[in-house]
Amino acid sequence: MNRMTMIEVKDEWKSRAKIDKATYDEWYKQSIDDPEGFWKQHAKRIDWIKEPTKVKSINYTYPDVSIKWFEDGELNVCYNCVDRHLKDKGDKTAILWEADEPGNAQHITFQQLHEHVCKFANVLKELGVQKGDRVVIYLPMIPQAAYAMLACARIGAIHSVVFAGFSPGALRDRVNDSEAKVVITANHAPRGGKATPLKKNTDKAFEGIEGDVKCLVVKRTGDDTPMTDGRDFWLHEMEGKVGNDCDCEPMNAEDPLFILYTSGSTGKPKGVVHTSGGYIVYTSMTHEYVFDYHPGDIYWCTADVGWITGHSYIVYGPLANGATTLVFESTPTYPDASRCWKVCEEHKVNQFYTAPTAIRALMGKGRKHVEGHDLSALKILGTVGEPINPEAWNWYYEEVGHSNVPIVDTYWQTETGGILITPLPGATPLKPGAASKPFFGVKPVILEPQSGEVLEGNGVEGVIAITDSWPSQMRTVYKDHERFVNTYFQQYKGYYFTEDGAKRDEDGYIWITGRVDDVINVSGHRMGTAEVESALVAHKAVSEAAVVGFPHDVKGQGIYCYVTLMEGTEPSDDLRDELIKHVRSEIGPIAKPDALQFAPDMPKTRSGKIMRRILRKIAEDKLDELGDTSTLADPSVVDHLIENRQNKG
Ligand code: WTA
Repeated sequence: MNRMTMIEVKDEWKSRAKIDKATYDEWYKQSIDDPEGFWKQHAKRIDWIKEPTKVKSINYTYPDVSIKWFEDGELNVCYNCVDRHLKDKGDKTAILWEADEPGNAQHITFQQLHEHVCKFANVLKELGVQKGDRVVIYLPMIPQAAYAMLACARIGAIHSVVFAGFSPGALRDRVNDSEAKVVITANHAPRGGKATPLKKNTDKAFEGIEGDVKCLVVKRTGDDTPMTDGRDFWLHEMEGKVGNDCDCEPMNAEDPLFILYTSGSTGKPKGVVHTSGGYIVYTSMTHEYVFDYHPGDIYWCTADVGWITGHSYIVYGPLANGATTLVFESTPTYPDASRCWKVCEEHKVNQFYTAPTAIRALMGKGRKHVEGHDLSALKILGTVGEPINPEAWNWYYEEVGHSNVPIVDTYWQTETGGILITPLPGATPLKPGAASKPFFGVKPVILEPQSGEVLEGNGVEGVIAITDSWPSQMRTVYKDHERFVNTYFQQYKGYYFTEDGAKRDEDGYIWITGRVDDVINVSGHRMGTAEVESALVAHKAVSEAAVVGFPHDVKGQGIYCYVTLMEGTEPSDDLRDELIKHVRSEIGPIAKPDALQFAPDMPKTRSGKIMRRILRKIAEDKLDELGDTSTLADPSVVDHLIENRQNKG
């Protein structure tokens, strides 16, 4: 399929969707012309203890940046996600838990969710947690992860979820930085048929944890678990000691809801702070309209609660809307590559939201795993996390959606809290690979990277920044407001800078070209590494590709490609030549790769992101600068890559 193909909104999508083109245009215009009026009205989707009279107070002026939404409003986020649904939806499934081993799904109703959360909250109080205290959650994808988050929100504690795939060292650093009072973990974390000894990791982290920190342990499996007296407590034992009722703490709209650590360009992770009112207004609203959520739909986001996607679009957004949200403990390839489609079929999933890396992995395993599954309940497919190459997009559209289900390619960041740029299924004609159009209230600009000048009109390319605030924007870096201001507001004054490159095409569609540090400059031509990758993946032999720049004497930068082949395809010199020619013909002579290395595996983080830093260093022969490789899913991948380095001609 041609790269610039546009898929019109089908009548069926239009008739089903809450937002059609006319509504999108009207609401978008209103949200930009009169943001105060627009957000005052849409804030009503939330139950407030005290309705806000002030809507937004935003200062983007460097270095006095300050962001507040609904600042005199009072609410409780847990109340909005749980209690307010009890009247109408008490018996409805809130959490549909799909355990690691197939065939063990559990339905947790809103009524049951309420009971679990209240008990959990009382246990936290029993351990001394008070409003404003930090609680670290180091749990696998089990319902207790959601209970723990909601319990914190209920009593006004600030949670910080640490991905269960992170090492003890990473956990320790986050507990210390957030000065948490309690760490919540599980004895074991089964995933993909293997069990991570989470409690053991936690014990290791505790060796370097400062202060009097308690550990609350969820019994996920029956295995023996050493407990430290006075420090470690079993959740089920504690629950036996506390009452069933727990009031919701009234919170100011600007009280922090959570801290989530994310990597920046420097080594130390940033504690991204999100607050209560704006966050829940925006995540629930985007969840409803981007995924066109209707009451009764079964919604599944495959992310992990350790990442922002899990926060906003597994827990908070869906539950605030009274949705049924599927919580998935396993991986897309366990026990085999048909797992996702089996789950979709069994639970009649209506919205399925995943990452391009998962789509490419499944694509590489072949269509046989999708075929034969009844996916007719699917109404929306979504992607997030990285640019999706048109081939993966087309595979998703054709093989999973049978060319009858719209794909929402949602662009956003940990920092943005919610989706910023996306098609809306009933309103936006689709272009494979384009994040497309801004959501309500979002005013993106494309800037000339060097001068910072705004590039007006269509057919422009540069970096993407946002002109004004939106309600779920991060407010600060925990304990380091200066870092917040300097990272996002210093380089381009008056804007929030995303650190992403983007173009606006002739039709006014926005395409994200990748992190700015992934953009390379070859003979004076600015080129997205994602573009070269997309070309490579377009070849039938290629399953996944990662492209980095390296210093080149003549061209400034050269192009180094790492290529994972489709299962059953053998690497050879002929194939290497063919792929290099293929890229040259897809994009042009300037994009001709200087080196192409076959890589059976990419160095991926446990969340599936390729660690380009490592690939760049290998391509640059800077082997002593590889840095920390311990957060990789499989650190041994690096040795193989080093051994098989290519001559760069
Ligand atoms: C990238 C994930 C292209 C982007 C929610 C961003 C995307 C970073 C897309 C944030 C998309 C996310 N198309 N690129 N649809 N979505 N990105 O903080 O580079 O884990 O800056 O948040 O992912 O990653 P994060």
